Amino acid sequence: MNVAHELAPARAQLEKLARPLGFVPTMGALHAGHMRLVEAARAQCKSVAVSLFVNPMQFGPQEDFERYPRDFEADNEKLAAAGVDLLFAPETATIYPPDFSTFVDVGKLGTRFEGAARPTHFRGVATVVAKLLHMLEPDVLYLGQKDAQQTAVLTRLVRDLNFTTRVEIVETVREPDGLALSSRNAYLTGPERAAAPTLYAALQTMLKEIQAGKSVEEAREAAVRVLSPQARLEYLNLVDASSFSRLQTLRPPAFLVGAARFGRTRLLDNLWIRT
Ligand code: PAJ
Repeated sequence: MNVAHELAPARAQLEKLARPLGFVPTMGALHAGHMRLVEAARAQCKSVAVSLFVNPMQFGPQEDFERYPRDFEADNEKLAAAGVDLLFAPETATIYPPDFSTFVDVGKLGTRFEGAARPTHFRGVATVVAKLLHMLEPDVLYLGQKDAQQTAVLTRLVRDLNFTTRVEIVETVREPDGLALSSRNAYLTGPERAAAPTLYAALQTMLKEIQAGKSVEEAREAAVRVLSPQARLEYLNLVDASSFSRLQTLRPPAFLVGAARFGRTRLLDNLWIRT
């Protein structure tokens, strides 16, 4: 595996790689969820590039940018073992020169749910991913269902800005008790970790109730009863998969999306209802 910290050597490596090129953008602290995206890219493409960049632009001023887990050596080893061809791990100044001022505005879709809780988050995600797509020019972009609204934002970005890259969404990887893998799970205390899988259980209950003919509101009430009393629920809703507007009846493709705080840690999860 080649490692590049700057654009020119990354592009020199990319020129040697066979197409199609699959690309997995990450912020590192890699776990089995990230690696599932890498495996999908490896299986479907001739070459695989991964980026590792903890993007300051997508963190709010009070968020965890400083304490976000970083372990470059471990990540490097995992990616090399998985047969990745190129690891692009730029310095912040490579991505954001000191007078950087051009952003990608994702519109209304970026203001709902995660965008309401984190007002500049999707602007930061869209800006860095647009830059990475320009820099690396991959054929396929691999994204995790885990961050459902991010998949909607980036699918739309690719369409709206005429990138020729195809988007592939890979299903969420979970712990045996249902908790979706996330770098932020490392922040949970013992009791918070024990309570955390109830977010997924609540989503499953909500889907079952909707499929049994209950209204979205009734299903939501049943789901809330499944949540641990330790969880502080932020939202639990049925939404259209591309606009993230709320649905009152099940009209796939849709997501059931949930976010809750367990102590200081905010966790997200969703169910993808494809048909
Ligand atoms: P990060 O949180 O590192 O996630 C990188 C990719 O891994 C995302 O597409 C995410 O959805 C996926 N992923 C995370 N947990 C997963 C799980 N349990 N199962 C399957 N896939 C999972 O998402 C970001 O980074 C950033 O916003 C980024 C797109 C890199 C832009 O900075």
